[in-house]
Amino acid sequence: MFVAWIVAAALCLPAFAQDSSAKPPRSAAKKPPNEVSQARREQAKIYETRGEEVPATYVTDRALLSYGSTLLADFINTLANLGPSDRWLDIGAGQGRAILEYYGERFDAMNPEGRDRRGSKAQSVALSIEDRRTAEWHKIAAALEPGKISYLHGKRLREYTPAELGRFQLASDVYGGFSYSSDLSRFMARILDLLKTGGSFYTLLINVQTASATSKGGKRDAEFQTEILAADGMPVGICAWLRQIGCAEVTCDTDPRSETPIERYRIRKTCEQVSVPVLEPVHFAAGTPPVRVFRLVAPIAPQLP
Ligand SMILES: C[S@@+](CC[C@H](N)C(=O)[O-])C[C@H]1O[C@@H](n2cnc3c(N)ncnc32)[C@H](O)[C@@H]1O
Repeated sequence: MFVAWIVAAALCLPAFAQDSSAKPPRSAAKKPPNEVSQARREQAKIYETRGEEVPATYVTDRALLSYGSTLLADFINTLANLGPSDRWLDIGAGQGRAILEYYGERFDAMNPEGRDRRGSKAQSVALSIEDRRTAEWHKIAAALEPGKISYLHGKRLREYTPAELGRFQLASDVYGGFSYSSDLSRFMARILDLLKTGGSFYTLLINVQTASATSKGGKRDAEFQTEILAADGMPVGICAWLRQIGCAEVTCDTDPRSETPIERYRIRKTCEQVSVPVLEPVHFAAGTPPVRVFRLVAPIAPQLP
């Protein structure tokens, strides 16, 4: 059983934005509270689970169809339009099933448009902290042209240098690092580093205060899975935070089929000088996914209608 730690952080820090290409500002680089570090260790134990020990709610084998119905509606279309010189990064890929299915004939049968352009399809990189590759992965990887797919494990996204991973036209994250990271602004900055200008990142979060709920009142009345608070303790929507990123065009919507609020995001990189407003972790409780509360270091500018 995992224990929740609550830290009441009382710091009010100066405003700045995180420049992903520059050295992180001092306060962004400072150590997280001890409770967060302890919870990270508990979280690491989940990644180590195998066989019957894997928590039932830790799903690592979602199909590509599930990615399509979980992410914003145009994800599959964007994937189907990639050509052989493009690259797709799946962050938190688990077993990598979605990537394997992309190379199957079924994908082409279901997405006949753009088939010629796709040719031998994009190069794909699956990223997972732990190695969850299956026999199926090894079989398909061996049958594809060398280097077409790769599976990287043993590190979190932010521990890779951009040079190690290269650049991508498309990135996805279905209950991967975007839901699990204890340092969300660094995670986001790293993804944007890895995207080519014009490239897109598709992801989602479960049980968040959605943009529409935030605009109705903003009072915190439930425990959310991922939450951002301003210095005065008022909630800041995830979408509002994303929309403050420099050089990014952000689309957010709420999955209408889900009773639990699920917000889906597409972040398109529009230029190179990316800046991500810094979030400090103030609460992190291990889980699938973990419960996370962040404090926004810089005040957020009002949104234009
Ligand atoms: C619940 S599984 C989801 C797997 C897959 N996306 C699916 O839907 O079946 C979570 C995955 O995210 C990975 N993950 C969590 N935090 C990560 C991080 N910071 N960087 C890279 N991978 C991460 C885990 O190692 C695991 O592969």
